[in-house]
Amino acid sequence: MKKTLILNWKMNPESFKMAKELFDFVSEKTKDQIMIAPPYLYLKDLVNNQNKKSKIKIIAQNVFWDLLGAYTGEISPLMIKKMGISGSIVGHSERRYILKEDDDLINKKIISLIKNDLLAVLCVGETHKDSLNQALIFIKNQLKKDLSKISNSINKISYLSAGRKNTKLIIAYEPVWSIGGGKPTDAERSALIIKEIKKFVKEKHGLDVEVLYGGSVDCKNISSFLKYKEIDGFLVGSASLKKSEISCIINKVAQNK
Ligand code: 13P
Repeated sequence: MKKTLILNWKMNPESFKMAKELFDFVSEKTKDQIMIAPPYLYLKDLVNNQNKKSKIKIIAQNVFWDLLGAYTGEISPLMIKKMGISGSIVGHSERRYILKEDDDLINKKIISLIKNDLLAVLCVGETHKDSLNQALIFIKNQLKKDLSKISNSINKISYLSAGRKNTKLIIAYEPVWSIGGGKPTDAERSALIIKEIKKFVKEKHGLDVEVLYGGSVDCKNISSFLKYKEIDGFLVGSASLKKSEISCIINKVAQNK
């Protein structure tokens, strides 16, 4: 199966001009579908200036749960949908731990995205380099809370469209201690954890969910992760801002078909 690739630019680059150049570079490099999560400020112009042939799906890095109202500084699923944005990352560790987002808020955001036919890319992962067992307990606890009450929207999450399986929920396993470039986790351990995440979501919600790996993925280490069929793709941070790294990652993922 083709691997999914999501590029999370976080709070980079510093100008729209640089963002557009990077975006066009990725568009030209790939024939496959890739998702890019640029900063909010650039979303509208990237969507409006996207080449018709480009297969890139643009997603947000964060979104609020309610659709309209008195929520200073927030952006709603309804607004991003009207703008042509395909969905949003939710529960990234930088929002959980720097901005103190809790599982209840994350759960509301996921439900709102799914209800509005938008993709939710839920990030989960243990904060410390724990034993496998401790890591699994931590992650399952996050999943239990973050995916609570999604059963009401289950018919919207996974469906067939034009003969192709579409999904409105992707999970990214991102061990927090490995985020930031240069600190990758061991691929075998990640594959084992991803297998358990899939099992958990299937048992609790009856869903076959796609699970990506994220955390210091780069050109050098991606091949070790590509070996595992359990890993459905990658959520790339730092390396997604460097053209040489992007080219290499895209090529390796494409050759893996
Ligand atoms: P790095 O690839 O920089 O470790 O970031 C991973 C990440 O947080 C993607 O969301």
